[in-house]
Amino acid sequence: MTEPPALPTFTSGSRRAPGALPLLGHAWQLQRRPLAFLRSLPRHGDLVEIGLGPRRAYAVCHPDLVRQVLTDARTFDKGGPIYDKLRQLLGNGLGTSAREPHRRQRRMIQPVFHAERIREYVPAIRDEVVAATAGWSDGQVIDVAEHTYKIITRVLTRTMFAAEARAEAATVIAEALPVFHQGVGRRMNSPFALLEKVPTSGNRRYEAAKARLHSLVDRLIADHRRDGAGHDNLLSVLMAAGDGRADGGASAMTDEEIHEHVITFLVAGIPTSAAVLAWSLHFLGQDPGLEARLHSEVDLVLDDGPPTWAHLGRLDLTTRTLTEVMRYYPPGWLLTRVAMHDTVLAGRRIPEGTVILFSPYLLHHRPDLHPAPDLFDPDRWLPERRHAMARDTYIPYGIGSRKCIGEVYGIVELTLALSVIARRWRLTPVPGAGAHLTDPKPSAVIHPAPLRMRLGERGTSRPRA
Ligand code: HEM
Repeated sequence: MTEPPALPTFTSGSRRAPGALPLLGHAWQLQRRPLAFLRSLPRHGDLVEIGLGPRRAYAVCHPDLVRQVLTDARTFDKGGPIYDKLRQLLGNGLGTSAREPHRRQRRMIQPVFHAERIREYVPAIRDEVVAATAGWSDGQVIDVAEHTYKIITRVLTRTMFAAEARAEAATVIAEALPVFHQGVGRRMNSPFALLEKVPTSGNRRYEAAKARLHSLVDRLIADHRRDGAGHDNLLSVLMAAGDGRADGGASAMTDEEIHEHVITFLVAGIPTSAAVLAWSLHFLGQDPGLEARLHSEVDLVLDDGPPTWAHLGRLDLTTRTLTEVMRYYPPGWLLTRVAMHDTVLAGRRIPEGTVILFSPYLLHHRPDLHPAPDLFDPDRWLPERRHAMARDTYIPYGIGSRKCIGEVYGIVELTLALSVIARRWRLTPVPGAGAHLTDPKPSAVIHPAPLRMRLGERGTSRPRA
């Protein structure tokens, strides 16, 4: 196989982004027009200085610098305002923990997301998507963002918890997680921690949702300890991985640790995949030609049967559509690290404690890395065009030791969900329902909510080869 082309090396040194305000720095731009602000940064260099309030931070805008930061966890660990806040809200689960506990945690948890295991979940995932869309009717207008959230919640609940717990878990998660997640997003982006304590109705709703989720997870873990459920779900594998049997208890996970990992899977796994599925349906609705091609593909590949593991590799345009959605609107759009000691980046001295920002969204919208970045074009991922891309220019799941552990799970569930929906339904935009979609304002993820679309049931004729 040919090597992907090399990138020009990054330019040394850094320049300060324009438009800082006294005291606020660039925080107001990140609040008011975050996506446009991020896209403007590469114009000022490959390492750009910005002010987060009074603190000096740097945004890495070149893929080589992003790689340097993400593959050297000793120097650039999880930290900075986003992760500091997330730790307060979520604890020290896999996504938020610092390098040392993380290495041990990741080793133990990796088997939970092994591809072979995910393969076993394919029928369950598919059945949940079918069941979650069974109530749809021809001509009905739905909020697609709300429905994809419910679909993904059902899927994760089904694969994560024992059968007896699923119905209650799905209800609590579907009701409480969106409120909790929205609150987390708002709190991550807000510089005013004190306002979180004010008993407004929004804060009370957030606290109640958080308490419901935590008590659900506590109960599920306790039930599992008591009943010793089988090995057919992610929680049982996680608990088995963390029982410390391999080394006489030295690596055993406490219930509190397991609790933090479960909450992390919910928060990291549901809103991300739900947003990607919703955006996919939006982009298909905008482009009847693309939609027709995708419908032909699912008709031909799936024929009259349900999708299986063997079909996944043949759903080529479906996969490319999802890949393009994650380029266009990567759910994890802005992430941070913190320098653990004095170091040098792009020839610039970086003092210990400096916050480094990286943004998959920014890289994915650099026109020199992804030509015509505002064009939604799944064909840019055809093999011949894909090979012309330099490495690390597409990073929706991150890179390095903190790369998304749910990547394979996410791709499998999304491909199954999109193909099941497309086999039966056509979704068309409702006029006037989407002014906000052309310039979405991201919170914890970039999501399209609300997204009103009309359902049309497709004919059931057998596909022609
Ligand atoms: C479209 C789907 C998804 C996207 C785009 C996505 C994106 C990401 C990204 C960018 C990171 C790295 C963050 C960083 O480096 O700071 C990450 C980490 C993580 N993701 Fe995902 N994710 C997705 C689905 C999932 C699913 C389905 C799960 C679990 C059920 C999951 C669980 C996690 C966890 C636990 C981490 C932390 C990993 C670690 O630090 O070792 N994600 N994800």
